[in-house]
Amino acid sequence: MSITLHIHATRETANKKVAREIAELIRAKPHAVLGLATGSTPIGVYQELVRLHHQEGLSFRQVCTFNLDEYQGIDLSHPESYWNFMHRHLFDHIDIPAANIHIPGTRVPSLELADYCKHYEELITVHGGIDYQILGIGRTGHIGFNEPGSPPDCRTRRILLDQLTREDAAPAFGDLDHVPTHAITMGCGTIMEARHIALLAFGTAKAAIVRKALRGPVSSQVSASYLQNHEHTSFHLDHESASLL
Ligand code: GLP
Repeated sequence: MSITLHIHATRETANKKVAREIAELIRAKPHAVLGLATGSTPIGVYQELVRLHHQEGLSFRQVCTFNLDEYQGIDLSHPESYWNFMHRHLFDHIDIPAANIHIPGTRVPSLELADYCKHYEELITVHGGIDYQILGIGRTGHIGFNEPGSPPDCRTRRILLDQLTREDAAPAFGDLDHVPTHAITMGCGTIMEARHIALLAFGTAKAAIVRKALRGPVSSQVSASYLQNHEHTSFHLDHESASLL
């Protein structure tokens, strides 16, 4: 098993390639289950999917989606909530029914957490499992919000965000004090069950962690390194993020 590496001339080529794979999947299997990611990286893929919907009739009417993660302790309507992000960049512009969209809540009470996370996992199973999972990568090596120390078999749960992750998010929230301390994230074990995985990473800021994920040992210190043991994972990079390989 090894990760398939695509080094693209431009980010646009990478976005188009991933969007085309998703479109082909949906055309072959209209009730496909997509695993979706947030962050600046996948925005171009979502723009291309919206274009395919408007210009090439790609329908999401039967598609079902599961987002990787969500911040805790902010309102759903907060501009940085992943619920808001996904609607702004994708869901508001395609024909997916609201009932087919799954994103962890932003204010899950502590007492309900265990059942809530278990239910999220069960919903994925009931829908037949994730066919195609999009991933970004954080500078801690996280996929979803699986920060260093996350074991390979971990499941959907609440997690304490790493200091580096919070610092990276600080400009979007105004300052560090406004960045949530916790999130709910699918686990590494949950992600590894997706049938196909596409990880996108662009820019020099990601070069060092991309190298660790791809070439380093499989380690809980870099949860993206677990993908080395996945059967159908592709990394879509640009020249900058691939510069240390
Ligand atoms: C957040 C998200 C990750 C994402 C990462 C990188 O931490 N939870 O899913 O991969 O940010 O974000 P960006 O794509 O903006 O670099």
